[in-house]
Amino acid sequence: MKLSQLIDAMINEALDDVHTAIPARVEKFNPQTLRGEVVPLVKRKLEQDGEPEALPPILDVPFQMPKAGPFIMRFPVRRGDTVLVVFSERALDYIMTDGEPQDPRLRRRHALDDAIAIPGLMHLGEGKLPGEHGDDAILLHRDNGVKIVLQADGKVLIENPDKSAKWELMPDGETVLTTPPHVVRLVPGGPAVLESPDLRLGGEDADEGVPLGKQLKEWLDGHEHPYTWTSGAGSGTTGPPTSASPDPSEVVKTV
Ligand SMILES: [Fe+2]
Repeated sequence: MKLSQLIDAMINEALDDVHTAIPARVEKFNPQTLRGEVVPLVKRKLEQDGEPEALPPILDVPFQMPKAGPFIMRFPVRRGDTVLVVFSERALDYIMTDGEPQDPRLRRRHALDDAIAIPGLMHLGEGKLPGEHGDDAILLHRDNGVKIVLQADGKVLIENPDKSAKWELMPDGETVLTTPPHVVRLVPGGPAVLESPDLRLGGEDADEGVPLGKQLKEWLDGHEHPYTWTSGAGSGTTGPPTSASPDPSEVVKTV
């Protein structure tokens, strides 16, 4: 073997244990600690002529989630999800303890043990995402289609497509809430419109229709009408009723 071949072989062997980044499959995930277990999606030949073998699971891997100040976006990572694992250039054991610089103490470099997982990789077997909202920011449940969308045109949409239910905040500030058969529309500087075949105000148990409300009460309490009398023969006008009519109901139902 030439010297150059020997050096090549030595470098290659050394690089076998220098890890940078590999896709991996999640085996376990703890949403409280954001740590879990992953298996790299890479098989490796341990013997020159042997069959490629899966790498061992990597335990206690920190997962990266969008997080800053008091805010965090936590996604429920599931077994089987594909993630990207990157490998820290120094051992994580002592340097991920308190957010302060620490002596890593261990000599491991770019080791499998020091993986950090980043969720979000999609393998080809997962097919495609819906084509709509390609220009918008979207938070989508791929199974039931429920979504929150910040649209490029300034509209905000929350939708449950199975129920044809949605909340829309239009770029001009108009708000439309749709839950068939009901629609609520709030127009900035304009009317608030409620469309419903069963509109109840004041509570679920509303059952009295009050189409006129105050107008009807005003008329009832103030009305007069002519009358005649036979004894002594004469006519006149009644005074208004001596007792007030009931107040309009605070709980109403229109049907
Ligand atoms: Fe009367």
